[in-house]
Amino acid sequence: MTGISTAGPSTVIRCKAAVAWEPNKPLMIEEIEVAPPQANEVRIKIVASSLCRSDLYFLLEGKNGSNFPMVLGHEAAGIVESVGPGVTEFKQGDKVIPIFLPQCRECRFCKSPKTNLCADSVPIVHYEGMPEPVSRLTCKGKKLTQFMRTSTFSEYTVVKQNAVAKIEPAAPLDKVCLLGCGISTGYGAAVNTAKVEPGSTCAVFGLGAVGLAAVMGCKAAGAKRIIAVDTNPDKFDKAKEFGATNFVNPKDHDKPISQVLSDMTNGGVDYSLECIGNVGVMRSALESCVKGWGVSVIVGFTNEHDLSARPIQLISGRTWTGSAFGGFKSKDGVQQMVKAYMDKKIKVDEFITHNLTLNEVNDAIELLKQGKSIRTVMRISPE
Ligand code: APR
Ligand code: ZN
Repeated sequence: MTGISTAGPSTVIRCKAAVAWEPNKPLMIEEIEVAPPQANEVRIKIVASSLCRSDLYFLLEGKNGSNFPMVLGHEAAGIVESVGPGVTEFKQGDKVIPIFLPQCRECRFCKSPKTNLCADSVPIVHYEGMPEPVSRLTCKGKKLTQFMRTSTFSEYTVVKQNAVAKIEPAAPLDKVCLLGCGISTGYGAAVNTAKVEPGSTCAVFGLGAVGLAAVMGCKAAGAKRIIAVDTNPDKFDKAKEFGATNFVNPKDHDKPISQVLSDMTNGGVDYSLECIGNVGVMRSALESCVKGWGVSVIVGFTNEHDLSARPIQLISGRTWTGSAFGGFKSKDGVQQMVKAYMDKKIKVDEFITHNLTLNEVNDAIELLKQGKSIRTVMRISPE
């Protein structure tokens, strides 16, 4: 049993959460208060949450966008506990996935088919590095920042209805939680952003969950060759399972990796995807593309360093682009991805290497830091 005291829509819930009080320190399991949902907000019981590299980025390095104390976690699934005034799309008991990217369906960006970056996106997505003003979570009298407006390392959280996707009742929450960020991000980057064509040659840099999902996307799009690049050769077996055909460890070569890939592919790959968040690798990924039509997509997140490349790389016909959340309109994309999983068209279970509980969140962090896990799914509350 957990120490949760519930609650109707108008009462405060006291429950357990993992609080990041300061950068680079272990998270602390605390009792927190979760305020009732206000207008257009939904209070969700989080059942399962995984740990994504971006949680670590903002815990360890993030200067812009980290605002302590905060509750991390943004890759999760749960059940609606109560709804605030004006919420028509959700009711108590609905299975849902909260998403860090909203889809209001009304703004200029939501109305355009050209982007998924809703005008109501969190500042991190706009790269403005502003603190999040609204939070429904408090602990010991202090407001807790809701990281990416989600904060899923908590038994309960409150999010805006424009950033929640309703999913089918049969969907297993401890699996589909992964569709709330990493898998959709990598898969969509290949399918929606790069628009990988059948018969093409692709290179994926970084074989974490995001990179493996990119490999899966390249394969689904019909790529003939998928070259998987990682400095950790332990990742190659898994990449093969997801459809990679060739494996390159940059440490095994004296030449620049772009030269290695160019030699392997008669002048460069058709598509490359950077799934690490390293500006040096982003440049290599661009330079690995073939002139004339090569497309390089930046998927890994960083906002601390400038990018550089020689203009001739672009003058000679390469395209350098990027996407957030795989270019998916967030609510629609999550629903599509859950359906694809239920129809056995995409893999999800294969990304899960560890299952832990919220109390073990610091172990999950260590596993990801040490490159030992792809995804750790934490059980947060009983269903
Ligand atoms: N060259 C090649 N591979 C590298 C390098 C490098 N210089 N540096 C790291 N890697 C590999 C790691 O060995 C690891 O397998 O990149 C992989 C990164 O995987 P994870 O740390 O598991 O990260 P993941 O959760 O997949 O996220 C990747 O996407 O959405 C973003 O914020 C996320 O920036 C992060 C990126
Ligand atoms: Zn919008």
